Amino acid sequence: MPSQDYNDYRREYEAEGLRRQDLALDPWQQFGTWLAQATNACPLDATSMSLATVSACGMPSARIVLMKSYDAQGLVWYTDSRSHKGQDLASNPQASVLFYWQPLERQVRISGKVVMLPDATADAYFQSRPRASQLSAAATAQSQVVSGSAELQTNVHSLDQQTLATQVERPKPWVGYCLQPTHFEFWQGRPSRLHDRFRYQYGADGWAIDRLAP
Ligand SMILES: Cc1cc2nc3c(=O)[nH]c(=O)nc-3n(C[C@H](O)[C@H](O)[C@H](O)COP(=O)(O)O)c2cc1C
Repeated sequence: MPSQDYNDYRREYEAEGLRRQDLALDPWQQFGTWLAQATNACPLDATSMSLATVSACGMPSARIVLMKSYDAQGLVWYTDSRSHKGQDLASNPQASVLFYWQPLERQVRISGKVVMLPDATADAYFQSRPRASQLSAAATAQSQVVSGSAELQTNVHSLDQQTLATQVERPKPWVGYCLQPTHFEFWQGRPSRLHDRFRYQYGADGWAIDRLAP
């Protein structure tokens, strides 16, 4: 097997620093400011986040999902609950998400408890999606083994024909989840590895902010 090491594969981070006095007291406000800057700096993928879950037997697993909304209650994404993440969350309703905004040399890490959103919320979002996305979500069971792409295409075509005169119903396993954070960490790359990191931790007195060593 060809091998290569990446020992010298590194770069300097040149961005301006993040100072304690620049931080919002509320992490949601800080997140909103950084997300707005990220949507300008990396418009295609600013809302994509790595979502890490842990199975009942303790095996972690990460994948990208798209954040669809956020407010003081938490961060929302939609998925098929039959997937690995869905199974993990059923037995261990906690998760960590990570946004990496490369042009800004920033990452944000958020973790906490996960709850499933009410059916009405998932219905409303599902009906706002393009019909082709609705069909593929409704005609396939995410993360299950399939015989080939022909099986997927046949299932989608068949559902399309059956629903020509109606709307595509949200399949019951297709749901929304909301991560209710107890921790945020804002990371700003800085020269010579002296990165700026601030953690917000929720406790009895509200959000406490600490600077962490890089
Ligand atoms: C840019 C990008 C965005 C994605 N967005 C979603 C999403 O919003 N929801 C989703 O279920 N999967 C999304 N996926 C697919 C997931 O990464 C993953 O393959 C799928 O959810 C199955 O993962 P699991 O079996 O580990 O749960 C996205 C993948 C990429 C690369």
